[in-house]
Parts: sequence; structure tokens; C-alpha cells
Amino acid sequence: MEVIQLIDKAFEKYLDKSQIQYRVSELGMQLSRVFEGEQVLFVVVLNGAAFFAVDVLKSFRGDSELSFVKFASYAGTRSTGAVSELIGLEADVKGRKVVILEDILDTGRTIEVVVDLLKNEGAEQVQVCTLLYKPSQNESSITPDWVGFEISKEFVVGYGLDYNGKGRHYPSIYKLKET
Ligand code: IMP
Ligand code: MG
Repeated sequence: MEVIQLIDKAFEKYLDKSQIQYRVSELGMQLSRVFEGEQVLFVVVLNGAAFFAVDVLKSFRGDSELSFVKFASYAGTRSTGAVSELIGLEADVKGRKVVILEDILDTGRTIEVVVDLLKNEGAEQVQVCTLLYKPSQNESSITPDWVGFEISKEFVVGYGLDYNGKGRHYPSIYKLKET
């Protein structure tokens, strides 16, 4: 089993890059079918969802626009509970159909803030598309509309996800190794 070391922690291979690529392009094609003939605004939650967003949009066929927001809630391998806004929404979302692209839905606190922000700005419809979902950890009122992979509660890195800023560049996903 392939193991990588980031700072003080070891992580083992969990989802292979080919598996991720396959599922992500499938999601892109499904989104294309559902939003056929409509205009979609994709809102990407930085930094983690950057890799996912680029790949999912490569297989999206339709009328879309792209915008980015940035929030922070994690320190190390635990959610701090408090979510702070670092880069705000620039696009005009009034009356629009919005799909949020997120890397992972854990406690759901981050996505709740993004959904509220978009609804307050007058979005007509807000859907959540997340690469990874930890259903057992979700404490929010949000159920994602689109999920790449459901996973259990382990901490994961790679394909955009980080441990204290490290590990985002790996094309596969790794989980924290039990020691
Ligand atoms: P939530 O607000 O608890 O749902 O956490 C969402 C954010 O925390 C995600 O957008 C990630 O940036 C980060 N996060 C949650 N779980 C993990 C993980 O397993 N690995 C890396 N980052 C994570
Ligand atoms: Mg994130």
C-alpha cells in the first residue's frame, strides 16, 4: 500500500486517481444532462475544491459561469466549528441557479455558510455538489445534491485536500494511517 508522509503524519492510499477521474467525469456529464438548456453558476469553494472543480467542469457541456469563494474552518485535522470568510462572492447571483462545488462535506458548517450567503443574495436555486461526503459527521441542515464518494469519518488528503496546507497536489486521495 502506497504511503505518504506529511509533516508528522502518515497517510495511506484510499481512492486511486483513475477511480477519482472516472467518477468526477461522470458527475460532470450528469450535471450537463440535468441543467440542459439552462444557465448554471458554479461557485467553487477554495482552496480544497480547485482540483475537483477543474476536472468536473472539463466534462460539463452547457451554459455555465464560474465564481470562487474562500472560507476557513479547519486547523490541523479537526474542524474548529467557526467558519470565517476570506474571499467573498463577486458574481451577481440574483435569480440564478447555483451549484456549489466543494471538496468535502464534513460537519457541514462551511457549506451551510455558503448556502446561506447565496440564498441571502437572492439565488433562485442552490445545489451542493461535493466530491467527498462524511454522512456520519454532518451536523448541518444540508444534504448534498451531488456526491462523488461517501466516506467514513477518517481524515483524508490529496486531490486538493490538505493537512495544514500540505498534500493538495497528489492526484490520488490518502487517509490518515492508524498508528
Ligand atoms: P466542514 O465545515 O466541517 O464541513 O468542513 C469543511 C471543510 O473542512 C472542507 O471544505 C475542507 O476544507 C476541510 N475538511 C473537512 N474534512 C477534511 C478532511 O478529511 N481532510 C482535509 N480537509 C477536510
Ligand atoms: Mg474546502
